[in-house]
Amino acid sequence: MAQKVRAAVFPVAGRGTRFLPATKASPKEMLPIVDKPLIQYAVEEAISAGATKLVFVTGSSKRAIEDHFDTDAELEQALTESGKDELLRSIQDIVPPGVSCIYIRQGKPLGLGHAVLCARPAVGNEPFFVHLADDLIAGSPGCLEQMAAEHSEHNGSVVAVETVPRENTSSYGIVAVDESDRNRVTEIVEKPAPADAPSNSAVVGRYLLAPEIFDKLENIGKGAGGEIQLTDGIAALLDQSPVYAYSFDGVRYDCGSKLGYLQATVAYGLNHPDTGERFREHLKAVLSD
Ligand code: G1P
Repeated sequence: MAQKVRAAVFPVAGRGTRFLPATKASPKEMLPIVDKPLIQYAVEEAISAGATKLVFVTGSSKRAIEDHFDTDAELEQALTESGKDELLRSIQDIVPPGVSCIYIRQGKPLGLGHAVLCARPAVGNEPFFVHLADDLIAGSPGCLEQMAAEHSEHNGSVVAVETVPRENTSSYGIVAVDESDRNRVTEIVEKPAPADAPSNSAVVGRYLLAPEIFDKLENIGKGAGGEIQLTDGIAALLDQSPVYAYSFDGVRYDCGSKLGYLQATVAYGLNHPDTGERFREHLKAVLSD
């Protein structure tokens, strides 16, 4: 029987330089897609997949994330008094009862692998999710829930993958898999040049990892870009414990890039009950000019 995944790790210490000046004083994870910040989509996806312990690995100027997941008695009272029940509901229970938030400071920007290692004391000796909020995935069920279902079948680690154009391999962790063994990962490399990439199957920001990864991350040292890379930790895990590549069902938006962020805004704006219809008409009018 596969162990249930209860902890989700959100590495949110990065400064989001691609979105400056917007991210000078506010976290990139608080950028909204229509009316919800990216980190709320992330948390909702993890909770739907069964997570009850949310571990945020944060850094300086990220306090807005803590405030967002805290209750705001003053605002709740103001909305109650003015009868704005729908808005009141939208800010209550963002973190439902039974789910707890833990905040750990990363301290130094030593890379994604280091950020995940910082979460070790909160996660303990259990499998856990890692969710990168920049990668927004529209899917039903959510990507992490799909990965948890996959995990329950074989108990191995799972990385979400999607095919990318070969010229983009240097932006991702890239895997080679054994297709005859449920896409078991045989090789994983961080950001290889197209000529060196073992495939064009790219890891996107969703991982379900066995706790053995922590010892690997302790020992791998610096990799690509002089950082401790999660990808290198996973590579070190491959011989000891199986890792499977999972092609999720859904659409990914790279909200770490301006274009991806705009694409997500358009897609979610078109689907939103408050804006969908009029936004569609507006886009049609703009595009026919
Ligand atoms: C990180 C990982 C990379 C992964 C990517 C997914 O890179 O290091 O392996 O493919 O996330 O979004 P980053 O986007 O932080 O440079």
